[in-house]
Amino acid sequence: MRTSIFGFALLSGVDAFFFSKGTTRQWNGNTYACKCFPGDSCWPSNLEWNILNATVGGNLRVNLPPAASCYNTFQGPLGNISTYDASKCAMVTSNFGDEQFQVELPTAGLWTYFTNDTCRPTTNPSDSCTLGHYPVLYITAKTVGHIQTGIAFAKLNNLRLVIRNTGHDFLGRSVGWGSLVINTHSFKSISTTNSWTGPGGYSGPAITAGAGVQAFEALAHLNSLSPKRIMVTGECSTVGISGGLVQGGGHGPLTNFHGFLADTALQFKVITADGVLRTANPSVNPDLFWALKGGGPASYGVIVEATYKTFADLPSSGFTLDINLSTNQNETLFWEAVRAFHSYSTHFVDNGLYVYYELGPVPMTLHVQPIVGINKTIAELQAIVQPLFNDLNALGIGYLTTNQSFSTFYDLYNAMFEPEMAGNSALTGGWTLARTDVENNHPAIIQSFKTVLSAGSFIVGHMWNAGHGLSESEWNKSAVHPGFRNVVDKLITIVPVSGNAPLVEKAEAQNRLTNVVDGALRAASPNGVSYVNEADPFQPNWQTAFWGTNYPRLVSIRQRYDPTGLFYAVSTPGTEKWEQIEYGTRLCKKLN
Ligand SMILES: Cc1cc2nc3c(=O)[nH]c(=O)nc-3n(C[C@H](O)[C@H](O)[C@H](O)COP(=O)(O)OP(=O)(O)OC[C@H]3O[C@@H](n4cnc5c(N)ncnc54)[C@H](O)[C@@H]3O)c2cc1C
Ligand SMILES: *[C@@H]1O[C@H](CO)[C@@H](O)[C@H](O)[C@H]1NC(C)=O
Ligand SMILES: *[C@@H]1O[C@H](CO)[C@@H](O)[C@H](O)[C@H]1NC(C)=O
Ligand SMILES: *[C@@H]1O[C@H](CO)[C@@H](O)[C@H](O)[C@H]1NC(C)=O
Ligand SMILES: *[C@@H]1O[C@H](CO)[C@@H](O)[C@H](O)[C@H]1NC(C)=O
Ligand SMILES: *[C@@H]1O[C@H](CO)[C@@H](O)[C@H](O)[C@H]1NC(C)=O
Ligand SMILES: *[C@@H]1O[C@H](CO)[C@@H](O)[C@H](O)[C@H]1NC(C)=O
Ligand SMILES: *[C@@H]1O[C@H](CO)[C@@H](O)[C@H](O)[C@H]1NC(C)=O
Ligand SMILES: *[C@@H]1O[C@H](CO)[C@@H](O)[C@H](O)[C@H]1NC(C)=O
Repeated sequence: MRTSIFGFALLSGVDAFFFSKGTTRQWNGNTYACKCFPGDSCWPSNLEWNILNATVGGNLRVNLPPAASCYNTFQGPLGNISTYDASKCAMVTSNFGDEQFQVELPTAGLWTYFTNDTCRPTTNPSDSCTLGHYPVLYITAKTVGHIQTGIAFAKLNNLRLVIRNTGHDFLGRSVGWGSLVINTHSFKSISTTNSWTGPGGYSGPAITAGAGVQAFEALAHLNSLSPKRIMVTGECSTVGISGGLVQGGGHGPLTNFHGFLADTALQFKVITADGVLRTANPSVNPDLFWALKGGGPASYGVIVEATYKTFADLPSSGFTLDINLSTNQNETLFWEAVRAFHSYSTHFVDNGLYVYYELGPVPMTLHVQPIVGINKTIAELQAIVQPLFNDLNALGIGYLTTNQSFSTFYDLYNAMFEPEMAGNSALTGGWTLARTDVENNHPAIIQSFKTVLSAGSFIVGHMWNAGHGLSESEWNKSAVHPGFRNVVDKLITIVPVSGNAPLVEKAEAQNRLTNVVDGALRAASPNGVSYVNEADPFQPNWQTAFWGTNYPRLVSIRQRYDPTGLFYAVSTPGTEKWEQIEYGTRLCKKLN
């Protein structure tokens, strides 16, 4: 039976009444209860959507894929729309690789694989443009009330709800077939204080940032203060600081000193599945506070605002290092160079260095940029790095190195980290190397790197240890895997594959990632762990790999705050029964 829309904002408490909405489907011999999707009789009527639109200030839109303007017709689930616009198409085509351009598009996924790669920029307007796994409609939320209304509407109508901030997600968690999106990118407020005095024992400088604030905005703001401040962010300046980053953990160049971004969080304002705006800090809703700090994105609520510790900025210096097959005569020598470089991972993190590097297969390249020494002069940094250069010289390996010093970390961050690309399609995996495995069996680590590259995957490495500078009494105050406190290198693996490739090709790539590429890394570092924001969500035992002994507690917090499964992101706590059946489309809960 269809329920009147008019009271939906008032009715969010009476959950049980609405459970009847949805469909029952069979897939692979199992029975599923599915959310409501376009074409289902439980999908809201135009009248209902119009009322929702009016209630969210006219900020509801039918979603078009980013490059729809390059096609005559967008064949969407709500009907055909004429979309061709030559100048818009030229703009989207030339900017498709630009991260910030894609961030500003309300529903784009910067890594396109999980959008199903439909409707990419083209010069042939008569090609077909379909929605793929992009959302059906989106709300550009401008107020807390818009988010609450979106939550209530999704719940009332049993819709698939996706929260989208910057769209950086590697795992497809900010897109979703048949979904309604709430976009939090407009929450851009920033304020700072020198004397935060919330509960939890910390008093001192802090920043409070809206859900849409990106790293470059927060860091620029902190740099404008006197004295200049910094905070933990990712190495990538366009990632949001209060969406997926903090809920996965959030590692970056400062991690050796202060742990994850999550470890520096002081308070959240968050809207839970019941539509209530809550404060979460060490004394108010402490379980929710803990879970939001690394317990998985889009699982416990929609973050509206977060407060973090800030730190004094310090003089910093950095090196780059490049080694490739043309600087070396042969592959054996190249791998000797990789081995020499990587054998210093423990030495580097023990000295507080952060090292970002890329290891690629064709042609084989090791690109290290940057090696970061915070609060270190170039001479101090060189003293730490020199043993590596000595080894390379002794082996007769050709390499190229540069170095720079800066009066602040902020200046180093802007000068030495390279911009990254959007618009690529790949499966992302990864693993984190435990110190004990690197110390005791380094040859196996390098052997696994060879396996990864020969399977066609890239490696992006991040040398840090999230337990190095953070006192042990702080470690379990975040929900991240305890194993992160004793690692030396966090690896991302990247297997390029098109999101619209034939299904057998996609299955082969997924199998190669899970079992060959990441399988090799897991075997080489059995004490390693996995980072939920940069990993294969389909890896075996993801629960333990992502959260270790914290997992059961996260499931119980999830069940308390979202008992009906309003929020969903793949492989987050308690989602075992949820699946995207029918080739990654309908989100459904397995009943048997
Ligand atoms: C180029 C690049 C570099 C990266 N570098 C780093 C790095 O150095 N360190 C690091 O830790 N990670 C890094 N990441 C990974 C990053 O942590 C994830 O991509 C993260 O999910 C991005 O979060 P977002 O909110 O910006 O993006 P989105 O894709 O918009 O969201 C990601 C997830 O968070 C959820 N979410 C978003 N906003 C909210 C909200 N307000 N409330 C609740 N849930 C929300 C979404 O539903 C989704 O599940 C990098 C990623 C890329 C693409
Ligand atoms: C929502 O309202 C705005 C403003 O009236 C309008 O431009 C927009 O098309 C509406 N969205 C939908 C999905 O109808
Ligand atoms: C939508 O457009 C496609 C391609 O132009 C066409 O084949 C299809 O019949 C149209 N559907 C409707 C409902 O108009
Ligand atoms: C997704 O892409 C696959 C090919 O990779 C295709 O078979 C499937 O129909 C697509 N689904 C949608 C919804 O676009
Ligand atoms: C690679 O180069 C090194 C140094 O020049 C040399 O000793 C070695 O024999 C070469 N190996 C191969 C397989 O060519
Ligand atoms: C920076 O390094 C100096 C020594 O070189 C040390 O005395 C100081 O405590 C360091 N500052 C911080 C914030 O770590
Ligand atoms: C290899 O290294 C040399 C010297 O450092 C550099 O000029 C060249 O561009 C590099 N090649 C690749 C493919 O990275
Ligand atoms: C640092 O760079 C300068 C040039 O900018 C160079 O002269 C110096 O040798 C470099 N130091 C090291 C250790 O590479
Ligand atoms: C963290 O560890 C301390 C000491 O081992 C323990 O008392 C506390 O209960 C733990 N807290 C959490 C949240 O697990």
